[in-house]
Amino acid sequence: MPQIIVVNHAGEEKSVDAAEGRTLMEVIRDDGFDELLALCGGCCSCATCHVFIDPAFADKLPAMSEDENDLLDSSDHRNETSRLSCQVPVTADLEGLRVTIAPED
Ligand code: FES
Repeated sequence: MPQIIVVNHAGEEKSVDAAEGRTLMEVIRDDGFDELLALCGGCCSCATCHVFIDPAFADKLPAMSEDENDLLDSSDHRNETSRLSCQVPVTADLEGLRVTIAPED
């Protein structure tokens, strides 16, 4: 099972088991990071699962949908590494991924 590193708002890092087939949002939320609100439960309509992804992994992620792109535009904290974590499935390629929970809007 891939291990990912999650960085919280305080800058603390934690290594987390990420089961393939789940989404990054589910993995982070279910590991007890309550900073990741994920209010819509993963249906790409809230943007409260916003994270920053290690740029080294950019080519291992699925392409961003128009809905995800539009939702991220609503965040003051968007940058070029932004993704909605509910739209990123865990795969073996994500071993060692470093993902930072974005500040709340
Ligand atoms: S959980 Fe709402 S957009 Fe990801």
